[in-house]
Amino acid sequence: MKKNWLIGGLAGVLMLAGVAFVQGGGAEGEDVAAESGQPIAFPHNQHAGSEEGQNRMDCQFCHFSAERSVDAGIPPVSMCVGCHQVVQGTTPEQQAEIAKIQEYADHNEPIPWNRIYKISDHAHFPHMRHVTVGLECQTCHGEVQTYGVLNERDPAWGGDNMGWCIDCHRNPPEGLTATDGSPIEEASIDCAVCHY
Ligand code: HEC
Ligand code: HEC
Ligand code: HEC
Ligand code: HEC
Ligand code: HEC
Repeated sequence: MKKNWLIGGLAGVLMLAGVAFVQGGGAEGEDVAAESGQPIAFPHNQHAGSEEGQNRMDCQFCHFSAERSVDAGIPPVSMCVGCHQVVQGTTPEQQAEIAKIQEYADHNEPIPWNRIYKISDHAHFPHMRHVTVGLECQTCHGEVQTYGVLNERDPAWGGDNMGWCIDCHRNPPEGLTATDGSPIEEASIDCAVCHY
């Protein structure tokens, strides 16, 4: 029985491997391509960092569905264009990377980002359930606001090992609260909440 859904899950991963990830934060993704570079050298620190000269943008300004949907979501090209029509970069390297944005926009194509964080299709992870109780993005993805181009998983993330999920569900950090304000002392470890 167990074996069957695992095999089914794997077949699903293979079938979906050809489907592009970026379309408005769709539910399914490309297979992990952590080792190859990204199509545009998008630096998280320049946008979300709080050092001098960085833009202190909120994570959810771009990952706008994290609080209300299963997927955190990747912003569409149009959002980048909104700033980069004006902000063209200072150095030649920056200008070359920023110019690529307009090319995707002109061709009406989504930027083919390589997906980094992905669990197998036989398990399900709902962002909103975690973000609304007060967990920080950094707890699971590390200090993203200090990173340049993302091309590998942060050691904080343990999603390819179910023990990571279970350990926190048994004993979550203190200070998490449900929407009605009541404290959260544990989360479900029933197989069916994650595998269905
Ligand atoms: C200006 C928009 C923008 C802001 C602000 C932003 N991100 Fe991103 N983020 C992106 C884009 C575009 C990608 C896809 C390219 C990449 O992987 O770097 C991405 C990718 C990611 C990924 C990897 C997704 C995957 O699996 O491929 C994580 C995790 C992430 N961001 C977390 C964060 C966190 C945490 C913050 C706040 C500290 C943040 N982001 C702020 C635009 C943004
Ligand atoms: C709120 C405005 C804003 C948005 C939205 C935004 N950027 Fe930027 N971006 C900036 C600013 C400001 C800089 C710094 C430019 C400089 O220093 O001259 C920058 C720099 C960059 C650079 C060059 C960074 C370097 O140091 O090499 C790239 C590439 C870039 N952005 C890509 C993107 C992409 C892709 C998106 C959409 C996912 C995006 N930006 C969304 C404001 C924005
Ligand atoms: C409890 C751990 C946890 C927290 C908190 C968390 N994430 Fe994630 N994130 C994950 C896991 C696990 C995946 C892989 C999910 C999958 O494959 O379905 C993921 C995938 C992603 C992705 C890529 C796919 C997508 O959902 O669009 C992005 C972007 C992302 N996270 C951004 C964020 C941001 C931004 C925050 C904070 C607002 C955040 N995450 C909070 C664990 C977490
Ligand atoms: C750092 C702590 C933490 C990690 C890591 C974590 N979770 Fe959670 N998760 C929680 C908390 C806390 C809740 C309870 C939210 C609530 O009660 O509303 C929760 C709720 C859930 C729910 C909803 C459960 C229900 O009763 O409907 C699912 C599904 C889930 N998590 C899946 C996962 C998966 C899959 C992973 C690993 C890839 C994971 N979580 C990793 C803390 C975590
Ligand atoms: C909180 C979420 C969660 C719960 C509860 C959960 N699992 Fe998992 N499980 C996962 C994740 C995440 C993976 C790893 C997915 C990956 O490899 O990307 C996984 C992997 C597995 C695997 C594949 C082998 C392995 O260890 O990687 C089996 C079998 C499995 N789970 C069975 C179960 C059974 C049986 C239960 C109930 C006793 C259960 N799971 C409860 C999230 C969960």
